[in-house]
Amino acid sequence: MIAADPSHAEVIAAIHRAAVPEAAWSENAWRSLLSAPGARARIAMDGAAPAGFLHLRHAGDEAEVVMIATHPSARRRGFAAALLEDAVASLDGRTLFLEVAESNSAARALYARFGFRQAGRRPGYYRTASGREDALVLRLVQDAAGRGQRL
Ligand SMILES: CC(C)(COP(=O)(O)OP(=O)(O)OC[C@H]1O[C@@H](n2cnc3c(N)ncnc32)[C@H](O)[C@@H]1OP(=O)(O)O)[C@@H](O)C(=O)NCCC(=O)NCCS
Repeated sequence: MIAADPSHAEVIAAIHRAAVPEAAWSENAWRSLLSAPGARARIAMDGAAPAGFLHLRHAGDEAEVVMIATHPSARRRGFAAALLEDAVASLDGRTLFLEVAESNSAARALYARFGFRQAGRRPGYYRTASGREDALVLRLVQDAAGRGQRL
């Protein structure tokens, strides 16, 4: 796993585009996200090839997973789980939140395994081909030692 900075915008944008072609963000958007205060991004490597990334924003006593994605050719090999584990280890007492589309069963299964629980709902938050879809706001429930409750 490598630490990403704004110079990795192209690599991250390429994985994002492959992972969610309908909703990817531009390389420029990624450059500014990676430069923003509190930004923390990591890229998971499959040998020499970038396989996935996780971009986190630390803000006060909260943190947010802004995006996590694994290239379609590298799925179900534990890259997202490793990235999330690393993100959780960086929290330093912060509460971790994220948003996920209600129909995103792969991501929801991953988050459930880490001990995320629903903390809210944003009706119609995502635009889809057929209209709009709710986002679920999830919060990581941690044990006293600050570890996610992995199931
Ligand atoms: C969600 C996503 C990041 C998972 O990446 P991944 O590297 O394939 O995930 P992992 O291999 O680390 O999976 C860890 C666990 O998550 C769960 N999981 C992951 N993908 C799953 C799927 N398609 N169906 C059911 N469970 C799934 C499983 O419990 C899995 O463990 P297992 O393989 O031992 O059963 C990937 O599917 C992706 O990039 N999706 C598109 C982008 C996206 O939706 N991001 C989330 C935005 S909120």
